[in-house]
Amino acid sequence: MNVKISIAGAEHAAHAARICELINESAKQRGTGIASRAPEYVAQKIRDGKSVIALDVNTGEVVGFSYIETWGHGRFVANSGLIVNPEYRHMGFAYRIKKKIFCLSRKKFPQARIFGITTGLAVMKINSSLGYVPVTFSELTDDEEFWSGCKGCHNYDILQRNSCRMCLCVGMLYDPKKHQSLYQRLIDLIRRHNLRAQKLRFRWWMRYRKMKQKKLRIDN
Ligand SMILES: CC(C)(COP(=O)(O)OP(=O)(O)OC[C@H]1O[C@@H](n2cnc3c(N)ncnc32)[C@H](O)[C@@H]1OP(=O)(O)O)[C@@H](O)C(=O)NCCC(=O)NCCS
Repeated sequence: MNVKISIAGAEHAAHAARICELINESAKQRGTGIASRAPEYVAQKIRDGKSVIALDVNTGEVVGFSYIETWGHGRFVANSGLIVNPEYRHMGFAYRIKKKIFCLSRKKFPQARIFGITTGLAVMKINSSLGYVPVTFSELTDDEEFWSGCKGCHNYDILQRNSCRMCLCVGMLYDPKKHQSLYQRLIDLIRRHNLRAQKLRFRWWMRYRKMKQKKLRIDN
């Protein structure tokens, strides 16, 4: 089996219909509602370079797919529409697709928090391996458009009853700030306390000047 996983481009737009078919078929089998995706919407994501596609090189069949959505004016990113063709499941493809779309999201939106809601064990395992942690819905986007995507779900009445604060799905979040290197944290800290840093620099400079003057006096 020869499967190629890549960031989708315009040349892959023709696969949009097949991707939607796979998503709808799997939703029917699971008996869950999903945020419906029109092939044109998926095709646009593909053309925008905001998706990852896995293709069987020998047959040309779609093996899997996932795409990026942004919410709350780009403060939040979700990797949505994860699907693996039933013929190719339990071979690690979801892991590989999720990892690639996660890296793409980090590259395109380095400051954004990456989140997802799911009831699926597979997705929970994959998300955990990428550094996501379970959170309450209060930590996720309050963008109404995101939550209206749950309208197709059987449990939407539960979500509504709880004013989008809780439901049967688990919220998972990757907060880039919690994964920053020590150097990045230091830079952020200095930027945030820019005034204090300037004061410190000024104090050091004064101390240095005094020392220099003292040395001059001794030398003379
Ligand atoms: C969920 C899905 C993407 C998993 O794809 P996959 O390629 O079979 O997953 P992987 O082989 O990469 O396995 C990932 C992990 O999940 C586990 N897993 C896979 N399918 C599972 C299932 N149905 N139930 C429980 N665990 C599952 C695997 O054992 C593996 O765990 P491990 O690391 O402990 O071995 C695929 O079943 C699918 O497309 N389902 C329908 C769509 C869907 O549910 N999308 C997610 C919406 S939130």
